[in-house]
Amino acid sequence: MGEWRTKGYWLWIGLVGTCLVLLVGFNGQRLQQVELNGIMSIAHRGASSYAPENTRSAFRKGLDLGADFLECDVHLSKDGVLIIMHDETVDRTTDGKGFIKDMTLEELKRLDAGRKFGDAFEGEKIITLDEFLDEFYGKIGLIIEIKKPKLYPGIEEQVVTLLEKYDDLSNIIIQSFDVESMRKMHALLPDVQIAVLMKPSALLLSTKKIEDLTSFATYINFNISYTNKWLVDQVHKYDGKVLVWSKKDHLLIAKSYQYGVDGIITDFSKWPANDPNLLVQE
Ligand code: G3P
Ligand code: CA
Repeated sequence: MGEWRTKGYWLWIGLVGTCLVLLVGFNGQRLQQVELNGIMSIAHRGASSYAPENTRSAFRKGLDLGADFLECDVHLSKDGVLIIMHDETVDRTTDGKGFIKDMTLEELKRLDAGRKFGDAFEGEKIITLDEFLDEFYGKIGLIIEIKKPKLYPGIEEQVVTLLEKYDDLSNIIIQSFDVESMRKMHALLPDVQIAVLMKPSALLLSTKKIEDLTSFATYINFNISYTNKWLVDQVHKYDGKVLVWSKKDHLLIAKSYQYGVDGIITDFSKWPANDPNLLVQE
């Protein structure tokens, strides 16, 4: 009973703290335009507002729009091929059903990964990480997110094997929500930049934890809703960098720019500096 009381107490503290931080982000009155010059722009799952996420079309669009990086998500098929898709099942984005881990590459390649987004994309195929690197390596920076590494034991080593085909990995970032997987990735590829993705609990991140994360990760990345200036400043203090992601919310992205982040990960990929949607609260 006492233990439950203690847990409840901490839950309330967490809830109230979260509300306060979110409120602080919305307390401005005056609007002004901001320039996004000088910070990295990352096409989230490709330019996924314009084309089906994580497909060749979305990545090509991100490249065309002038993004600095393309971000993709990676899983492992039944026959051990690294597949680019966000969810661990094919249900949401294709005409198929089932887990990627239960399907072979041949089965996955039969699926249509474009039609759900729009008729113009009918026939779009799922692509592998190998195919992604083959087309985009050297043209633009690449962020490879390992999804659910615990579902795929050994996925880190498989990513390393693919990357070893390339000499210069300075424009590649590997990221995951799984901190231990990224610690392992850093040990396997010490010269490659690592990013750790933070969950909502990041609002309670201690300086000790930030110090630990920045000991192996170049980037600590936050959802814009779970970021504040203090967190960004702390990461910078430990020589880390911060990317923030928000899919489509211009206002929050502009707000984060004010926090001094190093880049934004968004479905729009790149905005002209005079985009009227880029309004920020002060
Ligand atoms: O790069 C950050 C972002 O991709 C993490 O969220 O769910 O879109 O993979 P998610
Ligand atoms: Ca992602």
